[in-house]
Amino acid sequence: MGDITKMVERNEMKMQISPSLLAADFSRLGEELEKIEAAGADMIHLDVMDGVFVPNISFGMSVIASLRKTSRLFFDVHIMIVDPIRYIDSLAKAGADGITFHVEAAEDVGAVIQKIKGHGMKAGLTLRPGTPVEKVLPWLPQLDLALVMSVEPGFGGQSFMAGMMDKVAAIRSEAERIGRPDLILQVDGGVDRNTAAPCGKAGASCLVAGSAVFGKGDYAAEIAAIRAAAAGA
Ligand code: DX5
Ligand code: ZN
Repeated sequence: MGDITKMVERNEMKMQISPSLLAADFSRLGEELEKIEAAGADMIHLDVMDGVFVPNISFGMSVIASLRKTSRLFFDVHIMIVDPIRYIDSLAKAGADGITFHVEAAEDVGAVIQKIKGHGMKAGLTLRPGTPVEKVLPWLPQLDLALVMSVEPGFGGQSFMAGMMDKVAAIRSEAERIGRPDLILQVDGGVDRNTAAPCGKAGASCLVAGSAVFGKGDYAAEIAAIRAAAAGA
């Protein structure tokens, strides 16, 4: 299992890519995971949706637990569920390495962060496009990861909201101010080889990409192209 925070601390600052399994072929998930690891993914993004916080249902614990048996990739789990504290224990048991939850969904944000960390997992916090970034900034000292949603959560294949890059820049600047350059700063939604550049410029360190990677034939080429574009190549 890769320790992303340590890599960032060691200054191996290449842009991390976390392909979203939501866009993979669900009839061949194990195979897709193997292929994406071989293609150079740094982690795998697993979107868990409850049909209440977002109007869609994806997959849950049993799928993650099955995949855990076949892969050593870092499992970057993004939960779009109400009252997320209820599911931290079972996600840990299923094999999550990091859990990112929505600030809008939790009654006690600090308690969820502590519960995630109590299992030795990385704790991440995210926000809908309409939620002000100020809701997330106070939590940065306790977080391993902050995720800026650049689409309305719920579905893959939507268009990138460039206006969200202001939030990325605000989080990057606050992370620097509080002495947390190691904070993983993710962008999720509509990321591809064209939209990766503004993400990199705004200060992201990790990009989630679903349809842009799994929708194309050559996963390695897409991952490399996104990574290069983000670095301004
Ligand atoms: C949306 C999910 C995303 C989604 C991204 O709710 O959080 O992770 O899979 O898909 P693309 O990259 O296709 O926008
Ligand atoms: Zn996601």
